Amino acid sequence: MILPGATLGVLGGGQLGRMFTIRARTLGYGVVVLDPDAGSPAGAMADRHLCAAYDDRAALEELARSCAAVTTEFENVPAGVLEQLAGHVPVSPPPHAVAIAQDRILEKRFLAEHGFPTAAWRPVLSAADLADAATLGAPAILKTSRFGYDGKGQISVERVEELATAQQRLRGVACVFERRLALECELSVVLARGRDGALVAFPPAENVHRGGILETSTIPARVPAQLAQSAAELAAAVATALDYVGVLGVELFVADGGRLYVNELAPRPHNSGHFTLDATATDQFEQQVRALCGLPLGSPVLLSPATMINLLGDAWVGGEPRWEEAFARPGVKLHLYGKREPRPGRKMGHLTCLAATADASFHLAHETLQALERR
Ligand SMILES: Nc1ncnc2c1ncn2[C@@H]1O[C@H](COP(=O)(O)OP(=O)(O)OP(=O)(O)O)[C@@H](O)[C@H]1O
Ligand SMILES: [Mg+2]
Repeated sequence: MILPGATLGVLGGGQLGRMFTIRARTLGYGVVVLDPDAGSPAGAMADRHLCAAYDDRAALEELARSCAAVTTEFENVPAGVLEQLAGHVPVSPPPHAVAIAQDRILEKRFLAEHGFPTAAWRPVLSAADLADAATLGAPAILKTSRFGYDGKGQISVERVEELATAQQRLRGVACVFERRLALECELSVVLARGRDGALVAFPPAENVHRGGILETSTIPARVPAQLAQSAAELAAAVATALDYVGVLGVELFVADGGRLYVNELAPRPHNSGHFTLDATATDQFEQQVRALCGLPLGSPVLLSPATMINLLGDAWVGGEPRWEEAFARPGVKLHLYGKREPRPGRKMGHLTCLAATADASFHLAHETLQALERR
């Protein structure tokens, strides 16, 4: 067990690294952040910010030398970097799991090999694969295999005749072509798994996306109890098959009359798990610390229904949001990530809205966001 007083390293300095850093320091750990951005949200909270590229040899040596264990908040660290670190210091999530989750083709192959349901898909590595992919039919989505986030690197294909153009627009990089499901709803399960195989899942969240970006997560999900249970079991089975250690986000689709499909895996805390900062006995970042340090995992019990609503840069178009509107509402908790530039679609922060029921929390979230915005 790695106990408070030790120093932990984190690769990546965005908001997930920031919330990890704050939680780890609250628990009495030191934190070193590696991120190339001098203004990184996590760097500002850390004991030390190594401002260097993720594959900078000297910075990685310093991280391995000064930290008792290393984690990541970012799945796009170059493959090999985690492997290399793991030769010197305990690392979670495991490098093999990050390699799978950072590449949609490997991820979908892994899911298929283990019999986990996904939307029908085909790999498109080059123009030579287009004819085979077209047999899938449409509507469908062409997604870059790597480096996509918040719906970036995706093109909707309404008719298979559009596929070749879509592939050219994505510059011919390796892609996944997948059928678009008629979604009944989206769920996600954030869970933690320890080195000993112990697994603790937070209650499934019901997610609404807008323009490919997560807008709200509502807990408990307003779905039949049996479906929520199946979602939790499916996510746990995925984590176990992946021999995962750390916090994992499993994004799920519900379609075809209540059937579950795995969308994608995030080898880190997940945006849809931010409600745990205010609404569960242990939050997802504390679970990340616990799993990394070999400590017992904490209780995931839900203390109140909640809706998390993201604050995107769009909320700043009319000027600085009216924060007093958030503070004036009982049950509304404000989280800002310390990002200076509020660009449209950029995740600047979130609100967790606690209320007596999931419906009431959902309403409170939208009502508060509207009150904040100067339009
Ligand atoms: N096959 C599909 N059928 C229906 N809707 C889909 C499908 N694939 C993606 N979507 C919609 O687009 C959203 C974003 O897709 P996906 O999770 O693949 O993108 P991403 O860029 O990796 O997003 P993020 O990293 O923010 O989760 C999904 O949550 C869902 O709303
Ligand atoms: Mg996604």
